[in-house]
Amino acid sequence: MSTSSSGTQLSTKHLLGIKYITTEDILKICKMATEFKEVINRPIKKVPSLRDVTIANVFFENSTRTRVSFELAERRLSADIVNFSASSSSVNKGETLLDTVNNILAMKVDMVVMRHPAPGAHHFLAQHIDANIINAGDGTHEHPTQALLDAFSMMEKIGDLRGKNILIVGDVLHSRVALSNIYCLKKLGANVKVCGPPTLIPPFLKELGVEVEYDIKKALKWCHVANVLRIQLERQDIKYIPSIREYSQYFGINKKMVDEVNKDIVIMHPGPINRGVEISSDLADSGYSIILDQVENGVAVRMAVLYLLAAIK
Ligand code: CP
Repeated sequence: MSTSSSGTQLSTKHLLGIKYITTEDILKICKMATEFKEVINRPIKKVPSLRDVTIANVFFENSTRTRVSFELAERRLSADIVNFSASSSSVNKGETLLDTVNNILAMKVDMVVMRHPAPGAHHFLAQHIDANIINAGDGTHEHPTQALLDAFSMMEKIGDLRGKNILIVGDVLHSRVALSNIYCLKKLGANVKVCGPPTLIPPFLKELGVEVEYDIKKALKWCHVANVLRIQLERQDIKYIPSIREYSQYFGINKKMVDEVNKDIVIMHPGPINRGVEISSDLADSGYSIILDQVENGVAVRMAVLYLLAAIK
């Protein structure tokens, strides 16, 4: 595999958000991910593509899937890795983000994968440091690799997304997954609708070409794919819903509801799942669900992102 020709190069040095990359970039990443998916299903899963490339995984917020997935992707590409967790670092002694990252870079790090609670933290870093920066989630703003792996998983299941109906259900207001998905799906030509309580639907969605449906049964009838989000109580400083029980009653999805629609809806969830709140266990574990395929595809998609960005200095 070669990234030297402009035909396989991305238009950007950093992955700060889906908003800032082109449709061609998305398609190149998905094409490369298909090749890497084949690689990671071989008995020998490792390739030497990023030998001598050092990557810092800098996580200022909790993560299970993204962190493990990036680390596996980096190991499969033979990169050298340093893991940094804010909870056990000198950030707790008052060190700034820029000082923290500059100290890591002084140890000759080439790429930084970062999750940070502040929207835009990655843009700030990109203005001050030379390494490639990959956004692994910035507050309620973007989570670009999640959107890429979601789009890749949808295409694997239902093909070209142009003209396909994709539903996003739940706490759209606080979800970086929702915003990155919306940018990505619109760039790929899909129709996007959201469904959730009015208090959890941000007013700017119309400007992004997204429709709103408040009736979950009508929304399910409309869609080919339903991407279900969790209620992010940790980001809610005021009460946006009367109670979890009431939310679940009006917007929670179960297998019976999907059976009743009588068509093959693809059910997705970025995780972590709150079983019995936004999605029932019988649906999450059913044949409709591709939740674990999303997790598997995350490694291949992140390998593709790292590989393609490493070629751009
Ligand atoms: N989907 C996702 O970002 O999960 P984590 O928070 O566990 O990384």
